[in-house]
Amino acid sequence: VEITWSYEDAQKSGYKHFMLKEIFEEPSCIVSVLTGRIKDGRVVLQELEPFEVSLKELQTLKVVACGTSSHAALVFKYFLENMSDVTVDVDVSSEFRYKKPHIKPGSIMVAISQSGETADTLESVRLAKKYGAKIISVTNVLGSTLTRESDIVLYLNAGPEISVAATKSYVAQLVMLYLLAIKIIQSKESTGKRDFVDKLLRLPEVFENSLKGAESIHAIAKKYKDFKHFMYIGRGYGYPTALEGALKLKEISYIHATAYPAGELKHGPIAMLGPDFPVFSIIPYDSLFQKMKSNVIECKSRNAKILAVTNDENYELKELADDLIYVNTSDEQLYPVLMTPAIQLFAYFVADELGLDPDKPRNLAKSVTVE
Ligand code: G6P
Repeated sequence: VEITWSYEDAQKSGYKHFMLKEIFEEPSCIVSVLTGRIKDGRVVLQELEPFEVSLKELQTLKVVACGTSSHAALVFKYFLENMSDVTVDVDVSSEFRYKKPHIKPGSIMVAISQSGETADTLESVRLAKKYGAKIISVTNVLGSTLTRESDIVLYLNAGPEISVAATKSYVAQLVMLYLLAIKIIQSKESTGKRDFVDKLLRLPEVFENSLKGAESIHAIAKKYKDFKHFMYIGRGYGYPTALEGALKLKEISYIHATAYPAGELKHGPIAMLGPDFPVFSIIPYDSLFQKMKSNVIECKSRNAKILAVTNDENYELKELADDLIYVNTSDEQLYPVLMTPAIQLFAYFVADELGLDPDKPRNLAKSVTVE
């Protein structure tokens, strides 16, 4: 008998690439992260028990991470700062490790790393520990170097991620970081944020909708694949998603993409826009919608094509955008999770349409263990 499939193909379970398979595993990753973590409206993170007292007093948190994990860190910052009085300082690890650390003994650092092996993140953790910080790590690899050097490990349990570009691990990180943020808030006020906890419980079901648009995103990707530049914009919770969208496109399709908080456009980047420079806009129908809309109008008036991810079939955008991707949600704080499949799938389909292998992008490694 001639075997016509490879072991690798079998592992892809019928998907063309691991990246696509891993995007479609995101709903089950969300379930894995949430399982056993919510009881009677309260977040249960037993791992944090030794820190319970310091969490109650917590005023500032340092977070370090690289690449996609640093975008999860930014979502965590927006969320915890919006929901509490805790100040969250985010640094990319390669910067933190060479700065004056500003760490007080007993302070807490959160280190986020899918692999737990990223050299810059490990060195940042070592530096912070030297100054007396306690480390909470958020990682997907049990037994990784980071887990051995942390005081507390929040394990993502997202399963192995084969594709170089992080997808399901990012979604799992976001959900774990929501849990961590709520846990911190509930250590201070025991009954806090039940509404949000209920939303987290419904997330696996709601999230399924975010994957339903895959075919229409594929069609849009075909239209846009030959552009050489993309601008990603967002505000508030949309900003980290814009950063992650631009990173995904760069990583696997090698197309130049840049991301800005939309309000920064006028301070320089708008000068680049024109018919050959599409704008991928993260524009949910929220308190910042009108601000975002004005920015999109400014881009349109430079003849840039407008591609928008939104959560409402509102007519304002239908007139304005050349192409729209709908995500079914009204939960502002959960946009970063629910809008992520749209930017991941767009990058995936563009790369695939260009005949590139999204699983093995040139010049990149899954984990960067050297400086
Ligand atoms: C590499 C990978 C990225 C990842 C980054 C951080 O650059 O290609 O996908 O986001 O490392 O990795 P970590 O394992 O620390 O999350």
